[in-house]
Amino acid sequence: RAEVTAKSLALSEVMTKAGEYYKQQLRTAPQAIAYLKKRGLTGEIAARFGLGFSPDAWDGLRSVFSDYNTPALVEAGLVIDKSEEEGGGRKRYDRFRDRVMFPIRNTKGQIIGFGGRIMEQGEPKYLNSPETPLFQKGLELYGLFEARQSIREAGYVLVTEGYMDVVALAQMGFPQAVATLGTACTPTHAQKLLRQTDHVIFSFDGDSAGRRAARRALDACLPHANDDKVIKFLFLPKEHDPDSYIREFGTDAFEQEVRDAMPLSQFFMREMIGDNDLTTAEGRARTQFDAKPLLQAMQSSGMRLQLVRNLAQVTQTSPAEIEAMFELSQPVAR
Ligand code: GTP
Ligand code: MN
Ligand code: MN
Ligand code: MN
Ligand code: MN
Repeated sequence: RAEVTAKSLALSEVMTKAGEYYKQQLRTAPQAIAYLKKRGLTGEIAARFGLGFSPDAWDGLRSVFSDYNTPALVEAGLVIDKSEEEGGGRKRYDRFRDRVMFPIRNTKGQIIGFGGRIMEQGEPKYLNSPETPLFQKGLELYGLFEARQSIREAGYVLVTEGYMDVVALAQMGFPQAVATLGTACTPTHAQKLLRQTDHVIFSFDGDSAGRRAARRALDACLPHANDDKVIKFLFLPKEHDPDSYIREFGTDAFEQEVRDAMPLSQFFMREMIGDNDLTTAEGRARTQFDAKPLLQAMQSSGMRLQLVRNLAQVTQTSPAEIEAMFELSQPVAR
């Protein structure tokens, strides 16, 4: 245990130093500065998020880490080591090269990972740090450290998919935004979010991936949806994400979208009904079948009762019948 802590400490120092280096490099990288400007970001907002640049070099980090061969750099995911592998070529090199760097912080503000965006077309568009003892993607939310105070002030958090969504929203007057890190919203994410605030608004991309992400978020949130929480879903036009939307239509339009976000109860029914034909017994039974595991995952609550009532109504049954059929009478133990 003590050993793990010591190791994490060392990792954290390595990440801090790398973050400083990338930030420093951005100052003398006109193409990266131009890229951020083109995306509408000011120097102020770049500084707020500690954005940086990893130069187009195989061993740029050598200039800050005199011991470039230390295993700590590999453990931190900053250097790739191929020395065990057969064949020629370079054995040890920087993972992040020629990318705009987004440091990912934990809630204490320590850098635990990076996301690096390519500036031209190319694959992968974003390169993320690998998982380390400090960094587990399914647990972390990009921008949470930076957004915490704003979430308190606004009274809600906006949950997006991307680094750029968070930074652009902050730039445009919505600093209460965070992002999942290219993964689905996990139950741990949901728990973390609902610990920060009683009001969560998911705003994923308008494409099919974003829609799937919204469904995953619904599944992740239901077990934590107490009656003092408000959870909503903001659906953007198909070709937009929060970043592109707010740039094209402006702050007021986005604010209106936030106000019009779909309440969880409505999204729940829409998802459960899906393509089912409610004029047939089969369609109604299937709707109940789809809703069963989700309702069973919920704690006994006023919200669960409301969802049961809505489901009963569209499936021509009674709430009591649904509760009996789903064995919902016993409150789910926490
Ligand atoms: P921009 O094109 O810079 O506006 O990025 P975006 O955030 O809109 O990207 P997109 O909607 O395609 O993806 C959402 C999120 O998924 C990103 O912010 C990344 O966290 C992640 N992601 C996107 N592309 C990749 C990729 O190629 N590899 C990995 N590992 N993650 C990615
Ligand atoms: Mn509130
Ligand atoms: Mn997308
Ligand atoms: Mn985008
Ligand atoms: Mn996007």
